Amino acid sequence: MKYQLPPPLGHAVPISKEHAISVHFPAWADVAGYGAGNLEVAKALQNGYPRTFLHTYVQEVYIYTPIAPEPYLIPILIIAVFPDYDSAADCRSFLMDKTLNLDGAVDEKDTVLFAVNISKGPSQSEADFSCIPQLYAVTHPRSAEAQKMTFWRLNGRGISSRLAKQCLRGSKFKLTPITGSLQESSSIKDLPLYETLRKRVADLMSRAPINTKKDTLPTPDDVYLSASGMAALYHVNQSLLKWRSSDIVMLGFPYELSIKMIETIGLPYHLYSFGLDKDIDNLEALLIERAKEGRKIQSVWCECPNNPVLRTPDMRRVRDLADKYDFLFVIDDTIGSAANIDVTDVADIIVTSLTKNFSGYADVLGGCVTLNPNFRYHQELSTIFAGTHVNNLYAEDAIQLEVNSRNYLERFTQQNRTAAYLIDFLHPYIADPSSALTTIYSPRVCWSREYYCRFMRPATDEFEPGFGSVFGVDFENPKQASAFFDNFPVCKGPSFGADITIALPYVQLVMQKQKDWAKGHGLNETLIRISIGLEDPEVLLEHIKGALRAADAVKMQGSSNGICKDHDLH
Ligand SMILES: Cc1ncc(COP(=O)(O)O)c(C=O)c1O
Repeated sequence: MKYQLPPPLGHAVPISKEHAISVHFPAWADVAGYGAGNLEVAKALQNGYPRTFLHTYVQEVYIYTPIAPEPYLIPILIIAVFPDYDSAADCRSFLMDKTLNLDGAVDEKDTVLFAVNISKGPSQSEADFSCIPQLYAVTHPRSAEAQKMTFWRLNGRGISSRLAKQCLRGSKFKLTPITGSLQESSSIKDLPLYETLRKRVADLMSRAPINTKKDTLPTPDDVYLSASGMAALYHVNQSLLKWRSSDIVMLGFPYELSIKMIETIGLPYHLYSFGLDKDIDNLEALLIERAKEGRKIQSVWCECPNNPVLRTPDMRRVRDLADKYDFLFVIDDTIGSAANIDVTDVADIIVTSLTKNFSGYADVLGGCVTLNPNFRYHQELSTIFAGTHVNNLYAEDAIQLEVNSRNYLERFTQQNRTAAYLIDFLHPYIADPSSALTTIYSPRVCWSREYYCRFMRPATDEFEPGFGSVFGVDFENPKQASAFFDNFPVCKGPSFGADITIALPYVQLVMQKQKDWAKGHGLNETLIRISIGLEDPEVLLEHIKGALRAADAVKMQGSSNGICKDHDLH
């Protein structure tokens, strides 16, 4: 793919895509400023990640959805719209929850749940109109906007930009208040398209297994689709609350919203953030202690490898512990991706953000949960998950995911290779005292490489597995890191796994206000995550060289100040 110059600050990434899910921050200062809540940067944003930034079409739906009739007509109320009843009801409960909103929960009388009915618009075909699910809205005071956005981010089930666009083609929006709980909520129509996607995921999970002696492999019926990866994680959390109400363990620092979601609406959790062998020793000590008390934990969650430091814990040892001490093992395989790794040998539950490499074009969100038939709780979990599942992946988003994922293996072959090529170029610089580069984060060069490799699928004619399309680079200090970032001429913003290269100083954006906390868990503020796209590897190499030269120049200036190179355990 031809390299494209990035757009100006705040413009959509990928460039000029109507449903792009990322946004460009050209400079380190823009990212840090946005992370710190700088209004100037926020005002410049025309687009953003859909779980943090309301797409223009979604905002328009909010404006056009009339505020409800008397007695609900309160001008200070604004609205959140969801594609299913459960999400809207959860949102309302979240806003009213006094323990979750210590600074002020919304009063019951100030938040109302409505069914939203839209009439067919003059230019809308019957087929398009019929795919709009029954929508539900929650009204809330303006003062609760931040809480609403927290829910939107953590839950990942707000209406998508494609669904919003289709709604705007409708003619009339009518709101009907819902009092009490809805007995029967209608959900999205079950189109053959969803079966195609479920089958594609199940086939990916089953192709080139690492253990050919396994009796059973996931089928399409084991796959539950969701509106986003976060919605899939939320589905797991909600379902497991019903399965066993006891401790959750997170092994290795996960995607930060996974922690926040568990922290906010889950059970007590233990975070063993480095995922080291000694963390698993600590897990084992906890299990022994609980066993003595006659108790069991609920689950251990990990990512393979974890975002953004890309370590893999000893998952086989965790499986052995799960069998011995009776708990569930939940693995998020988003970054390693089912093409590269096969975790069906150890996980009870596999969660994937389909938004990333599966989709591959950064223009749609999606997620799924796969229940693994290899383990003893499969049947029990299937009953619970089926009972808690609502398919909230809108049909047009499903179409986009289906079309995008057709060439998944082909794309990923190239991305695996280019990322490896760049990592191999950069790696020697870590040992070079004159280079500003201190660390490369990648399963390819990590202490936990062996733990990752145990789960790599065998190579086949159609696909050669690798270490993924994401890696990270780190520097001695923010000046060097920002020099690298500012001189790296690629798109810069949230998300990964796209056809275009996207870089992000992860902690600066995501944990700007918790940098010390992040550091304590092994995430430096100087870490830059890079997701490799389909551009010419030689062009990317030249860009990387230029960025590294800029960081080295800053180091040269600073070397007289006696700053010395500090290596992290990565
Ligand atoms: C490892 C991992 N899992 C899940 C998610 C959430 O997925 P989504 O953004 O599709 O909601 C992310 C998001 O970046 C992630 O990095």
